[in-house]
Amino acid sequence: MIRKLLKGGKGFEVQSVFTVLLVLCETALEVVLPIFMSNILNVIQLYAADEMSIGLTSAVTVYDFQGGTRGLLTYGVGTSVLGRKDILLNTVYSYGILMVISAILSLTFGSLAGWLCAVAGAGFSKNMRRMLFDKIQGFSFANVDKFSTASLVTRSTTDVNNAQNAFMMIIRTVIRAPAMLIFSTVMAFVNYAEMAWIFLLAIPALGIIMACISIKVHPLFKSMLKRYDKMNADVQENLVAVRVVKAFVREDYEEQKYRESTEAVRNAQLKAEKLMILMNPLTSCVMYGTIIGLLVIGGKRIAIGEMQGGTLTAMMSYCTQILSSVMMICFIAVQLVLSRASIDRIFEVLETDSTIKDGEQTDKKVNSGSIDFQHVDFSYSDNADNLTLTDIDLHIESGESVGIIGGTGDGKSSLVQLIPRFYDVFRGRILVDGTDVRDYSVFNLREGVSMVLQKNVLFSGTIRQNLLWGNENATQEEIEAACKAACAHDFIMSFPDGYETDLGQGGVNVSGGQKQRLCIARALLKKPKIMILDDSTSAVDTATDAQIRKGLKELSADMTTIIIAQRISSVEDCDKIVVLDDGKINAVGTHEQLIETNSIYQEVYRSQQKGTVEQGGED
Ligand SMILES: Nc1ncnc2c1ncn2[C@@H]1O[C@H](COP(=O)(O)OP(=O)(O)OP(=O)(O)O)[C@@H](O)[C@H]1O
Ligand SMILES: [Mg+2]
Repeated sequence: MIRKLLKGGKGFEVQSVFTVLLVLCETALEVVLPIFMSNILNVIQLYAADEMSIGLTSAVTVYDFQGGTRGLLTYGVGTSVLGRKDILLNTVYSYGILMVISAILSLTFGSLAGWLCAVAGAGFSKNMRRMLFDKIQGFSFANVDKFSTASLVTRSTTDVNNAQNAFMMIIRTVIRAPAMLIFSTVMAFVNYAEMAWIFLLAIPALGIIMACISIKVHPLFKSMLKRYDKMNADVQENLVAVRVVKAFVREDYEEQKYRESTEAVRNAQLKAEKLMILMNPLTSCVMYGTIIGLLVIGGKRIAIGEMQGGTLTAMMSYCTQILSSVMMICFIAVQLVLSRASIDRIFEVLETDSTIKDGEQTDKKVNSGSIDFQHVDFSYSDNADNLTLTDIDLHIESGESVGIIGGTGDGKSSLVQLIPRFYDVFRGRILVDGTDVRDYSVFNLREGVSMVLQKNVLFSGTIRQNLLWGNENATQEEIEAACKAACAHDFIMSFPDGYETDLGQGGVNVSGGQKQRLCIARALLKKPKIMILDDSTSAVDTATDAQIRKGLKELSADMTTIIIAQRISSVEDCDKIVVLDDGKINAVGTHEQLIETNSIYQEVYRSQQKGTVEQGGED
């Protein structure tokens, strides 16, 4: 896990290492402060005793700062009171100054560490997000299907945040807590070894309590995170499909669904918190038990003159430092285990290879646009028992126009998606220009094949920006020519801002038919050798549909065109028409041939003719 986290911290090694070093310095200073305080208090005790002329019954030891040496100085009964007073006051001042310097240094180190840690943490999440985004860009459709879009979004956002917290905790707290525990325990023994054994009882007691609770709480937290996932997915789905929700007046249903998700999160949170609440009283018991132990033993020793008040105060400070660092270690352990789930989810994406890889013929480009399906079987699940397409054998000449007709779910989209390798075939092969599609580089293959997807998408930005996606170097003339061919130019010009019209997020400002035409124009700008229109004119009227087909032919006569359509009228003038039935080719022929010989085609034709006649009759 640490190795994985370090991968994300690349480029921020200096900040990360300095954070660790500064935290160590800060902790060391925090740990010596109680010793200084103890010495000051002990000296004050001596001073007060002198003031009251009580005199001392035993010798006390403090570090001597007189003359710059750091040796032990013993003051016993009988030392001259006046001389002692000066020495004591000087010692108090020396320790006071040391305390102030240590506190300022500790604060400075702490602030610097905090700042560097924030820089490294922000850099870590930037790295992680970029790595994830780059990886996802290279994913095939099959990869995206496997993870699901919602999950990839959650992994790039919430999970990265969790991992960032873990990373920051590791470079800041994971070092600090054990360092504090070790330093403080050592100092407690240095300060007063005869009493420090109490900590050797308290530390394991507290550790066991925290570990037991953490082990019990961990699965509860995990299930809470799962419910969080579901709640996030609900919000995401609702926002993406907000138009459908409104169209079906399903707001109440959605509200209820969301209420249930939030209720589930609340219940899971409460379950976990109930156990976490136990932590406070139990840890307080150990903490106060230790303090009472220290007071009882320390009090007795002070009473018999074996210990000074300042030493006891220092032991109290170490008690707080030691026990809070044990608690911190347990807390970090819980947090790290929790973030581990997120880190694993991130690395599951990062370590997944795209199922679509470049072929060996990296220089090969699509030149003519002929397509050969040779006994192709295809399955979304790579399973021979669950084939979406079976034994597809089809030859398409360069420059031909091919229509594909078939019922919904019969595999039309699946068939054409194999040409630009959105998915790979299960068996058989597909040749483009006589070369297996798997031998091309993915870039060159997709440069040669333009596809207007059934679920087409426009991006935020102007119409021009969207069109330039097809070819970023396209001139205004080329843009207009493509838009004219796709019957988009006229409606674009009817907007006050023309090609500079802002489309809003996801192209919300244009109608379904306009969107389809913009998508066709965008695909045309790529000047592809093969153009695939997957139900891309379903929302445009029949006359415009015919005009678009004419426009395509005029713009590029030698372009191979594949048109998937529900309407016979969209494909009837194609060079050949493929009838697809339940993932298999039922027939291939021209409109005239099929209307004579193919029952499925006849059926579809008749039903559509009937519709037209009925419509005409109503008019
Ligand atoms: N990403 C996917 N993962 C798994 N199965 C899928 C996926 N996409 C489609 N399918 C399944 O493959 C079959 C063929 O779907 P396809 O989208 O190719 O049909 P289609 O002929 O294009 O239908 P339509 O006319 O409705 O667009 C369907 O049964 C569908 O459920
Ligand atoms: Mg389809």
